[in-house]
Amino acid sequence: MIKSAEFVMSNSEVAKCPKNNLPEYAFIGRSNVGKSSLINMLTNHKNLAKTSGRPGKTQLINHFLINKNWFLVDLPGYGYARVSKSSKKQFQRFIPDYFQERQQLVLAFVLVDIRHEAQKIDLEFMEYMGENGIPFSIIFTKADKLKPKAIERNVAAYLQELLKTWEETPQYFVTSSSSAIGRDEVLNEIERTNRQ
Ligand code: GTP
Ligand code: MG
Repeated sequence: MIKSAEFVMSNSEVAKCPKNNLPEYAFIGRSNVGKSSLINMLTNHKNLAKTSGRPGKTQLINHFLINKNWFLVDLPGYGYARVSKSSKKQFQRFIPDYFQERQQLVLAFVLVDIRHEAQKIDLEFMEYMGENGIPFSIIFTKADKLKPKAIERNVAAYLQELLKTWEETPQYFVTSSSSAIGRDEVLNEIERTNRQ
């Protein structure tokens, strides 16, 4: 259960992120997929993480301290042309740095919009996570935009796509930040892995 949530700091360098070794959980995915909104939904705070209808809102690594003993981390989106033209893979430099250097990262959540077919950039990012041995789960966002049948169909199609390259599909969650679908499931997973 989340009893307290507070913004700690924003950084463009991984080296400047909190050094206290508390466990952390990061949210990553394409710009506008709903990373910051999901953090607000999970913590029950309207404006803890800054959100926007325009992609590219989150530009830095943002640490939020939860219950005074673990972090949720909001990251910039990838795949947004204006901020990522110079980077071949369209990832800002500090995103791979973050995942490679943060030993205290327990689990990353890779967010994908439930309305869309699997996108190359997301599949590539998951491949990158796999190759680097960084544990991740998938979060399908914006489930309020689809009817239950379509949710089922899209999730099944996405998993099918993953099975072309993965032996097993990663754990996944279906969420909506506007209707709090999936909130308990994601928080339970955090609690479960946090205790190990
Ligand atoms: P960047 O910081 O730019 O990478 O974006 P982000 O992934 O943090 O997305 P953000 O949370 O700012 O949300 C982007 C837009 O999607 C906003 O207009 C949100 O209101 C909307 N949105 C986010 N989650 C949901 C959801 O579950 N349902 C609906 N309907 N809209 C959502
Ligand atoms: Mg954001």
